Amino acid sequence: MALSLNRSALRRYIERSIQDLPALPTAVTRVLELTENPNATASDLDKLIGSDPALATKVLRVVNSAYYGLSAEVSTTSHAIVILGFQQVRNLVLSMAAMSLVKARTQAMIQTQYAFWRHAFGTASTARMLAERKGCSVETRDIAYTGALLHDLGELFLLANFPDLLREVLRQSAATGIMMQESEQRVLGIDHAEIGGMLTQVWKFPVELTDMVAHHHGPYNEMPSVSVALVHAADYYASLCGFASVPNGSFYLDPFVDEWLNLREEELPAFFEAISEKVRDAETFFDLI
Ligand SMILES: [Fe+2]
Ligand SMILES: [Fe+2]
Repeated sequence: MALSLNRSALRRYIERSIQDLPALPTAVTRVLELTENPNATASDLDKLIGSDPALATKVLRVVNSAYYGLSAEVSTTSHAIVILGFQQVRNLVLSMAAMSLVKARTQAMIQTQYAFWRHAFGTASTARMLAERKGCSVETRDIAYTGALLHDLGELFLLANFPDLLREVLRQSAATGIMMQESEQRVLGIDHAEIGGMLTQVWKFPVELTDMVAHHHGPYNEMPSVSVALVHAADYYASLCGFASVPNGSFYLDPFVDEWLNLREEELPAFFEAISEKVRDAETFFDLI
């Protein structure tokens, strides 16, 4: 079906299916609304998460996983908010909801999806480590983490909804050696960064998140915003560390970002070890997404 359509028809077809996606769960939409309200408190957030028991259970399981490395068990969402902070719990809820909505439906896709998730968590952990290294604020670290977790959402969307098209994209990318996003433009007339940006817009996620997702590839004409730069660099380093989602994934580091980061060659082994450890820890909750 879709494969026989031309590029601009395919683009329209994909755009329409983005608009047709199911809405976010009510509790998650209300979490987003809460974020817009400057007077919102941790207890408001706690009440919202608590109104959706499945969501509350997921949050607690993730918080208690090895990934967060907490010394004591967290048994309530209010405790989770105290420990991780309002922003981080909110970001966790948004990320899990977004990833659940675009997850693969057949067994055959599970393996590819697994590689995407490893890439997503590898990139997210890397973004946070880079932000710490640059001395960024806690807010920037948290938003960069979430942006990094969601940056390839468009790829997951293609995997779940257009697996045949994605296979063709990957085939052409492997045959010609071009990067995934170029292959997507050739085959589909749209790439996964643009698709991801549209998804986060449809779900009314914060603009900063949309920016990180839509512009994570570069090249840039000037130094991008700090959060975009962090996601872009994290994507590159996580891929270099062995957590690329696809063979011709994100092996481009923009010179502006490279200069800003100024990561030295001798820092890489320890850095890669830390990324690998975080991905191993995250594997304990992949089944939740
Ligand atoms: Fe990407
Ligand atoms: Fe990526």
